[in-house]
Amino acid sequence: MSFKPDFAWGAATSAYQIEGAAAIDGRGPSVWDRFCRQPGKVFEGHTGDVACDHYHRWPEDVALMREIGLKAYRFSLSWSRILPEGTGKVNEQGLAFYDRLVDALLEGGIDPWLTFFHWDYPLFLQRRGGWLNADSSKWFAEYSAVVVDRLSDRVTNWMTLNEPQCFIGLGHGTGMHAPGDQMDLPHVLVAVHNALLAHGRTVQVLRAQAKKTPHVGWAPTGDVAVPLTDDPADIAAAREAYWSIQPGSLWNQRWWADPVLTGKYPEIGCEAYGDALPVTTDEEMKIISSPIDFYGMNIYNGYFVRAGADGKPEHVMRQPGVPTSHFQWRVTPEALYWGPRWVHERYAKPIAITENGMASHDWVALDGAVHDPQRIDYVNRYLRQLKRAAESGVDVEGYFHWTLMDNFEWAEGYRYRFGLIHVDFETQKRTLKDSARWYSEVIKHNAENL
Ligand code: NOJ
Repeated sequence: MSFKPDFAWGAATSAYQIEGAAAIDGRGPSVWDRFCRQPGKVFEGHTGDVACDHYHRWPEDVALMREIGLKAYRFSLSWSRILPEGTGKVNEQGLAFYDRLVDALLEGGIDPWLTFFHWDYPLFLQRRGGWLNADSSKWFAEYSAVVVDRLSDRVTNWMTLNEPQCFIGLGHGTGMHAPGDQMDLPHVLVAVHNALLAHGRTVQVLRAQAKKTPHVGWAPTGDVAVPLTDDPADIAAAREAYWSIQPGSLWNQRWWADPVLTGKYPEIGCEAYGDALPVTTDEEMKIISSPIDFYGMNIYNGYFVRAGADGKPEHVMRQPGVPTSHFQWRVTPEALYWGPRWVHERYAKPIAITENGMASHDWVALDGAVHDPQRIDYVNRYLRQLKRAAESGVDVEGYFHWTLMDNFEWAEGYRYRFGLIHVDFETQKRTLKDSARWYSEVIKHNAENL
């Protein structure tokens, strides 16, 4: 048994990265609209104002998805397109856009996997304190309820938050992403707690109000600890590294996932964060741990770990590491075996790879095609490892390539191309890359051809 017959072969995007139409049809601003206008924050002052103009070109984009043969499509909604001020007044034109998109996907036999929040926080709510406001999770639940009311007669696959480690860690800790805050740890941990509460309340909204039985998950991120060898001591060391929490750092899996899956912040995190911990109630922890159906994982790379002389984890730099063009992320296919294994072992939930992919220097060649052999090789290697995970008993439900088409890569603007589809940002012309054609074959054969 490798991948299940109904495996969700997909690709992923997010609203701000592709939609454009930033000030059209009643959309309210998000923190990213503001951040992009702050000098020096985004590469060459790029913005998501137009992006891939998907808001207008979605029929063509859905047609391309069909051409690739995608079975599933993961996308996010722009909160401020639906509720321009984050709460209160609902913008019918915004909802109607997602309505049409969902209908077209279903008509094309593509299952929508919808993310409620992929970083584009409504600016009006930021002015009211954003994730630090004690009501922030209720604002989120209000937004979720509007979405569920409108789309849950057709949409069944839902993800609450995308990479909370990033929108809190980079957005409120280092300030590299919108809203660009650099708060101290106690404040950051309050923001984390409120974001987790928003997740939990949305799960509850879905369970109570969805018209079709919902299949609910989330999509955290995290580099994966990979054992250097199959020696049980190295495996134990990698496991320990993966679940560890470093003082002051939010770059871990466990501070986020333990509350969601077990209803408790982990002891080792409480020790690591010391007197910065947020004040929480049992009632809140119950909300946060409202049961989910699957664990989405955004995985791009991993790091190697072995057992040191004292048996403790020791990080190893394996040479030569092949970097992809984005942030020098290294090609570490084993991450797609070990990541799902660690999570499966600890939380026993089905897993979906909600993002995986790489940026490379792709351009339209003289023959009119886009040749991206590195991406093909990258995905091939990673999928083989995911298959190995599935064969070893991990319940893997799907794989979503990041990303469907080249798009706005946050603080890096348009300089990194992650897509299966090349986008010429001057003309908005789309060209299927070689990798898209290759991926079609993988989907057709349920990866038996790898
Ligand atoms: C994670 C994020 O969810 C996505 O928005 C981003 O573009 C990719 N990784 C690549 O950096």
